[in-house]
Amino acid sequence: MAYRTHHCGELRIADQGKEVELSGWVAKNRDFGGLTFIDLRDRYGITQLSFNDTVNPELLNSARGLGREFVIQVKGIVKERESKNKNIPTGEIELEVTELHVLNAAATPPFTIDNDTDGGEELRMQYRYLDIRREPVKNKLILRHQLAQKIRNYLSDAEFIEVETPVLIKSTPEGARDFVVPSRMNQGQFYALPQSPQTFKQLLMVAGMDKYFQIVKCFRDEDLRADRQPEFTQIDCEMSFVERDDVLNVFEGMVKAILKDVKGADLGQFPRITYADAMYHYGNDKPDTRFEMQFNYLKGGRNGDDLVSGQGFGIFDSAPAVIALNIKRGATRTRKEIDKLTDWVKRPQVGAKGLIYCRLGAEGAHKSSVDKFYGQDKLNEWAKFCDAEEGDLIVVISGDLIPAQTQMSALRLKLGEEEGLRDPSIFKPLWVVDFPLLEWDEEHKRYHAMHHPFTSPLAEDMELLKSDLSKVRANAYDMVINGVELGGGSIRIHDKALQSSMFDALGFTSAEAEAQFGFLMNAFKYGAPPHGGIAFGFDRMCALIGGTDSIRDYIAFPKNNMGRDVMIDAPSKVDVDQLNELGLKLK
Ligand code: AMO
Repeated sequence: MAYRTHHCGELRIADQGKEVELSGWVAKNRDFGGLTFIDLRDRYGITQLSFNDTVNPELLNSARGLGREFVIQVKGIVKERESKNKNIPTGEIELEVTELHVLNAAATPPFTIDNDTDGGEELRMQYRYLDIRREPVKNKLILRHQLAQKIRNYLSDAEFIEVETPVLIKSTPEGARDFVVPSRMNQGQFYALPQSPQTFKQLLMVAGMDKYFQIVKCFRDEDLRADRQPEFTQIDCEMSFVERDDVLNVFEGMVKAILKDVKGADLGQFPRITYADAMYHYGNDKPDTRFEMQFNYLKGGRNGDDLVSGQGFGIFDSAPAVIALNIKRGATRTRKEIDKLTDWVKRPQVGAKGLIYCRLGAEGAHKSSVDKFYGQDKLNEWAKFCDAEEGDLIVVISGDLIPAQTQMSALRLKLGEEEGLRDPSIFKPLWVVDFPLLEWDEEHKRYHAMHHPFTSPLAEDMELLKSDLSKVRANAYDMVINGVELGGGSIRIHDKALQSSMFDALGFTSAEAEAQFGFLMNAFKYGAPPHGGIAFGFDRMCALIGGTDSIRDYIAFPKNNMGRDVMIDAPSKVDVDQLNELGLKLK
């Protein structure tokens, strides 16, 4: 190696006395007069360099002039340190430098490159290459690499073949907007960037590839959040001659193996819950099951119980659904704290009209915000119904069923957070199955595929396709861990006739279906095997395993909330000439 014999995380006390060469960045320069210490950093770690008056005064002088982030090469002898640093693996030694070459000077970086930095998020995004020099960011990218390796190995061992599918394609209907790319050679026509390789992986099954996977970039022009980027990575998979449980077993196995390997976590068998139950008990199709706190329907539940009507409280009388949550040991919350929760659920993002509470004291000493209407007996009934006891706090939201469920779900997650029940070191997986096949789009007065139009209805719901589209369930499933939708997939339609009736249900004329999906329907004529698959959000998987909420941290060069790459300043304008060449005119 021209520049180094070792890297900066490598030398130990056993190397004492060796003459070695290192290269890296100046992380810290501490000048003590006759003695200067430099922390030299590379991807592997930090090694302390020492420059000593008595060894070489000239060298000491040059060392003093080294600024932060200068790139240097040094030669020296490994020595035992006088004061050892137990916190780093090289902490017992230092390099007494005998030769120093400055490979490149560096301007002062715009923020401190240290574990705790003073740089704001936007600034660090702008100088992402400097941010990546920081240990926590670098380690996240290394974790990502390791996970990708393990997944590739796991799937290859299970006889999956990685096949690359094209990036310049025709629009795939996954529900988000497409990014489009104008074609110069076919003016007025556009490619779309894939929202997923869905149709290609199905064609690969027709092609007989049997088991396919790909760690692949996908592109969706949708509103961004902490767990969404416009370009993100999927672990995309498809299998032939399978039914739902075959797919679930393979991928449950994969996620279990990865979590065991990387986190030492034993996940056990993943519970399966239907979409309908998830919505009923948690108000959410991706419930965080690290904590219980299930919904109690004081009214509007499946059993038809009504513990609230007819007591003169108009709001509950007129509400189709009244949902209560029991906060264990929550009665210590002060009035002010409860008011704060009330304000929180009333924010437009949550949208509840209000929050009723009942503090449970000893028998007969309950205190509620609706004391005027509900006596101690009624409150006792509520307590029993919610499995609540003295010292607990019951909170109640009412309204139409779906909004009340959604609002309560938001509150449940907030309470879980506040009560410290969402521990990132615990992993609680589950499969959510039997999603609705279609969802009604009120604005356009038509149905959309909830997953995508290639998803098969459940065999037992086939008849409903002719009578009640809203009730048809899909053979679709999501893997959810800690409230994160990690992956989703389905058993596909492999029959041309059923695929056409699905397009019918979605309101496509046969000409439209032919224009958009003719290639797939045509392929189905030539022997399509029964098949199904799943795709995982790889960035989400990294964030979940790494223990953070934002997937950005695991993407080397992410976009900000406006979908911008502030480092390279994209998107940006293009030349008029370039537009002309593409046959495009700006308005
Ligand atoms: P789906 O649309 O559910 O399914 O996507 C699969 C998984 O991809 C992740 N994901 C995202 N991650 C980051 N940013 C985004 N914008 C984003 N959108 C989705 C989620 C999600 O569970 N073709 C089907 C899969 C199939 O049927 O096999 C599909 O793409 O973790």
